[in-house]
Amino acid sequence: MVVEKIAHIGIAVESIEQWIGFYRDVLGLEYGGSEEVPEQKVRVAFLTIGESSIELLEPTSEDSPIAKFLEKRGSGIHHIAIQVDDIEAALAKHHEAGAQLIDNSSRIGAHKMKIAFVHPKASGGVLLELCEPYH
Ligand code: CO
Repeated sequence: MVVEKIAHIGIAVESIEQWIGFYRDVLGLEYGGSEEVPEQKVRVAFLTIGESSIELLEPTSEDSPIAKFLEKRGSGIHHIAIQVDDIEAALAKHHEAGAQLIDNSSRIGAHKMKIAFVHPKASGGVLLELCEPYH
């Protein structure tokens, strides 16, 4: 299993529309459009930054995990996504090490990625998203 790069940094916001201007126009990142991920009750917008991107996350419902995060902590960094070449192997390694996972198996996320979340307790307080592109 190879860890390839930081795929994206997820930032929780109340409204993508409110913040897209900063990331696109002031910071100057290329805006790759937004898509809704109904399973996670979020809308996500991707802005390219080199080999990685910034992912803005906006809740689409009051019981969205992002809505709960915003209530508790306000907007800010929500997770870091790490791209691997074999997500099942990465999960097996976590299981073996006894690292706490939120997802015991991978599921389909935004942008044609298989994803699984690692619990912040396993990583020193940062929610990690493992992801593997599929075609
Ligand atoms: Co993400």
